[in-house]
Amino acid sequence: MPQPTSSTLTEAAKARPDNPPVRLGLIGLGTVGQGVCKIVAKNAYLTLEKIAVKDLNKKRGIDIDPKLLTTDPYEVINDAAISVIIEVAGGVDDAKKWIVQALNNKKHVITANKELIAKHGPELFKLAKQNNVRLLFEGAVAGGIPIIMPLKLSLAGNTIEEVAGILNGTTNYILTKMTTEKADYNAVLKDAQAKGFAEADPGSDVDGHDARYKTAILASIAFGKNVDPNAVFCEGITNISPLDISNADELGYVIKLLGIAKSENNQFDIRVHPVFVAKEHPLASIHNEFNAVWVRGDAVGEVMFYGRGAGELPTASAVMGDVLAICSELQKSISDPMPLMDFYNSQNATVLDIGETRNKYYIRLNTNDLPGVVGNLGTACGKHGVSLECVLQKGMHHQPDCENNTASIVLITHEVAEKNMQAALSDIRQQKTTQDVACVLRVWN
Ligand code: HSE
Repeated sequence: MPQPTSSTLTEAAKARPDNPPVRLGLIGLGTVGQGVCKIVAKNAYLTLEKIAVKDLNKKRGIDIDPKLLTTDPYEVINDAAISVIIEVAGGVDDAKKWIVQALNNKKHVITANKELIAKHGPELFKLAKQNNVRLLFEGAVAGGIPIIMPLKLSLAGNTIEEVAGILNGTTNYILTKMTTEKADYNAVLKDAQAKGFAEADPGSDVDGHDARYKTAILASIAFGKNVDPNAVFCEGITNISPLDISNADELGYVIKLLGIAKSENNQFDIRVHPVFVAKEHPLASIHNEFNAVWVRGDAVGEVMFYGRGAGELPTASAVMGDVLAICSELQKSISDPMPLMDFYNSQNATVLDIGETRNKYYIRLNTNDLPGVVGNLGTACGKHGVSLECVLQKGMHHQPDCENNTASIVLITHEVAEKNMQAALSDIRQQKTTQDVACVLRVWN
């Protein structure tokens, strides 16, 4: 059975027409909801049965069969054919009622709603357990970054000692721009809003509450205790000035808004505020709207997860991971279940020959320091379709008693096929003025 990439899943499911797809109900067709629809459409193990929206006539970026739409979420929740409900509408009070009803209807629920999970997670998880269904929420923290399942499953062999995360893309974007452009907070916020990185009302982001909910969720998983988000100290970034940023820089730090959760001797130190992060720490290199979660476990040591913390497809990616995990559980009893945890492939991959790969190259060579040498190098490259991006002469070794001084020359090429590069290098090695090709490295990305 192939591994579950969306295209192989589609192929695999087509080959098993007797196994009906798992039927999904969606509540919310905003940015994330549309991402979910796009991924479901590529996956024949799944089908969208019904979608609850606020406005039936709203123009949307995707084609949806209007027969699927309803303005009543309970039509989705109470549909007997649906076994998994995906809630991506946001808000707390209504979303809680929908999820309670869905769980009581014995439907599995996936949500990306961090505020709801942070505030009401404990009672909702209890209800899910009572009904013998799952409530999963990978998309609620750090968008597309897989962190909930890794904390729960992959790192289960550890006692988690500390989690620290850049959990809000808006504030990380603002702090990055304040650092790189030496601009003032308000100017950067306006620019971020114009570019769509910051909400028109950025309060929950810049005051730290969005990160506070996410931190409370991470801490409760990491430490196996319920964490009340109201008990998490929270301070935003609105008071940070360009002077603080340049002072941090001078002292060897960058300023980041971190969600921090530490456990020591059964004491839990959980908070969100801007901090000085040493430039050498991996969290210091997380720029713009990206998120990252750094974890310290007693067995694994330090690990870090990095990626996009928001957006249509990144968040839908997390939601769909949960959906597929549930589908794989639902299909356990059938003869040919979805292969989420298997690692058996029926097909072999054909790996590209190194000569066919395309790369940029760094080449350092020693030549005689004579007129025409660089021209000869360029001619050999040109003959094999290798275009040079940069040529540097990195110094010479003058030996008074020697006719031929040595020039150390560095070439950077544009992207070209490896076989062309090797052909050019072979010509270069044969040129009389070449002493040796000392180093060839591929430039990645
Ligand atoms: N507004 C959040 C952010 C994304 O800027 O990261 C959703 O949690």
